[in-house]
Order: sequence, then C-alpha cells, then structure tokens
Amino acid sequence: MSTAFASVADVIDAPFRRAGHSEFPFGADALSLQTLRDMRPGVEQVEVAFENATVYREVSEPKPKLAQEKIHQIRDYTHSEQIVGNSPELRRMLELVDRVAPTDSTVLIAGETGTGKELVAHAIHRRSPRGDRALVKVNCAALPAELIASELFGHEKGAFTGALQQRIGRFEAANGGTIFLDEIAELSPEIQVLLLRVLQEKEFERVGGNRTIKTDVRVIAASNKDLQREVNVGRFRMDLFYRLNVFPVHVPPLRERVNDIPLLVDYFAARLAARTGKKINQIEKRSLSAMQQYSWPGNIRELQNVIERCVILADSEVLRVDPGMMQEAAPVPIAANVIAFGSERRAHIEAVLRETRGKVYGPHGAASRLGLPATTLDSQIRALRINKHQYK
Ligand SMILES: Nc1ncnc2c1ncn2[C@@H]1O[C@H](COP(=O)(O)OP(=O)(O)OP(=O)(O)O)[C@@H](O)[C@H]1O
Ligand SMILES: [Mg+2]
Repeated sequence: MSTAFASVADVIDAPFRRAGHSEFPFGADALSLQTLRDMRPGVEQVEVAFENATVYREVSEPKPKLAQEKIHQIRDYTHSEQIVGNSPELRRMLELVDRVAPTDSTVLIAGETGTGKELVAHAIHRRSPRGDRALVKVNCAALPAELIASELFGHEKGAFTGALQQRIGRFEAANGGTIFLDEIAELSPEIQVLLLRVLQEKEFERVGGNRTIKTDVRVIAASNKDLQREVNVGRFRMDLFYRLNVFPVHVPPLRERVNDIPLLVDYFAARLAARTGKKINQIEKRSLSAMQQYSWPGNIRELQNVIERCVILADSEVLRVDPGMMQEAAPVPIAANVIAFGSERRAHIEAVLRETRGKVYGPHGAASRLGLPATTLDSQIRALRINKHQYK
C-alpha cells in the first residue's frame, strides 16, 4: 500500500489517531520527519515507525532511579563481554545495549567495518533471556543468492536439484533463540520480501514446502552501510527497513573514541604476547600518540592487526609501532581523482561541508550526502587541503 499524504502532520497523525490519542506523545523528530516527507511512505510503514519510536523511547529513556546501578552493570559487563573501552562514546552505546538486551525488540546495529558490531550482537544475545539458547548467525553477503532462501528457511526433499534431504533453515535452528543477520544491506530484493514476511507474521515455509512454520526468534541485524541511504536510493525496501530499525544501535568508529586506544592496545598486546610467549610490559608513548592521531579506517580490527604485527616483531619488553604500519589506504588514486575533478570538486565539497557544519561522518555528514565512504571523503578533504573545522 502506498498512500500519498498531504502533509507530514497527516503522516504522523494517521496511525496515531487510530490508536486513540489526541496529541502526539513525544518528540516527533524521533521519526525523522524529513525522511517521512521525502519518501511519502504508506500508512503501514508509518505505523511501524510509530511503534519503533515507542519501543525506542520506552527502552532508551533513562530511568533516574536505576542510573547508578546501570553504570555498575556496564562496567562488569564491559569486562565479561570483552568489549574493551571506557570512552563516553562507547559507554553511551553500551548503555543502550544494556537497556535493549533484556527485551525481545529487533535491534539494528550500524557502524563502519571493524567497529565491533558482531561483538555487540553477541553481547545483546548473551544478556537476553534467550542467552542460553542458540545465536544463529547468517552472513547475508557470503551466501549466493540462489542458496540464501534455503539457508534461511530450509528446504523439503526434492525442492530443487541437489535437495536430496529435507533440511531445516537458520530461522528454524534459531527458534527460541536469536538470529543475527549480518551485512543485511546485501540481501537481494526477493529475499527482502521473504524476510519481511517472517518479521511481520513470524512464520514461513521451507523452500518447496507448503506447511507454514511458526517461529519465535529475536532478530538482530547489522550493516556497515547506511541502510537509510540504501532505502533512499532504492536498494533496500523501506517497509523492511522500518521492521528492522526498531532499536538502532550505532557503534562509533575508533577515531571518534581515541581515548579507548590505550586500553585496547593494552588488551590486544597482553593477549597476543601471551599467545606468542613474549613479554611485553610497556608501550612506547610516542607510538601511542601516533596511534591516537591516525584515523583507523579499518577501526578496531585494523588496530588489532597492527598490534599483532608489532608483538611478533618486538625484540624488547617495550612495544613500538612503526608509523609505516599506519598508512591511510589508497591515497594516490584518490588524489589523482581529485585533481581530475579540479576546483569544481573542491567547491562542491566545501558547499556540502558548509551545510553539514564541517561534519563528515555519520548519517547527516557530508560523506553520506555525497554518497562516498567517509574515509574516502576525509582523504579527499586532506588532499585538497580543505579546513573542515572552519565550518563548525
Ligand atoms: N571494544 C572492543 N574490545 C575488544 N575487541 C574488540 C572491540 N571491538 C571490536 N573488537 C574486535 O575487533 C574485531 C572486529 O570486530 P567485529 O567483527 O565485531 O566488527 P564488525 O563491526 O562486525 O566488522 P565488519 O563490519 O567488518 O563485519 C574482532 O576481532 C573483535 O573481537
Ligand atoms: Mg561483522
């Protein structure tokens, strides 16, 4: 159904009035009014968005009395789950994780590559009442399109050539537990439709089968793409997006929490030293500050790899990091690209930065507006010697 609405107010009010209220109960910006206006969604999506906003508010709103307890819990949990870090950015995210974990709400984890999305998914599952049941992972990017339906929903014997046995799918395997749909943006349109049905009706059929199977599964999805943008460019279904985006959790990139770097280096160095039988007692200060200057496009995974190399190469108890190990990826072709675009490109980037007040990263940043990976835009800004801070 796709009804066009006369105004944003109508869009917001329709499902809300049906629910018997006379006044929109909380900050309408939770629904991203601009998005609704741009996309003219149907009533169904708005209803889902409305429910999502309600869930998000109920789950994320601080409960003053519990605030102190929460901080304690997060600390314990930070250690037990091995989500290392103590920066305000990470703590804010862990607080959301902490609040949503015990509920049955669908969680959409967003964040750049290597930021720890999978770790967060595990943490949510383990801290939920389903924690001792299965956590079944599906990497939506790794499965070939023709196999994914059978992987997700199973198949009956003889459903297709090679289907010699009946096989249960991952939704059935996850029954009573959690399914983790990783790299969700990569799902083909056909599978997006099937997934939408499972999320809406909580039922599906095996490939080649006609028996409807009920499922009780908590869904956690993750993507390193901006899913809202994928919707805007028509690559991802809007109705599915709203079903998934019940409780969004953004895992911040490492460069936005450089205060976590010393702890992380310590943690990785100790673990890797133990594994390789080396003794590492200290980290050179200069190396540490160089690491805090670097932008870590591969985030924590990249940091982990650098530390691993340094530990292997270490010939004393002091860990040193060779600055050559921290090289921004592919600066040469990007610079060439920029020169080809010339001053026009520069003016364009500056205009967008002015609008975003110098913000490059995140859903409202310049990179997202320009449709570029943020790290690429950052390199271009540096290559063009644009001072993004002047727009703040
Ligand atoms: N806060 C953290 N503390 C300790 N280890 C971390 C932390 N965050 C991430 N890691 C480690 O970094 C690596 C990458 O994390 P993970 O696989 O969860 O990232 P991801 O966001 O799922 O990446 P991708 O988008 O590439 O799939 C893993 O080895 C993980 O254990
Ligand atoms: Mg991952």
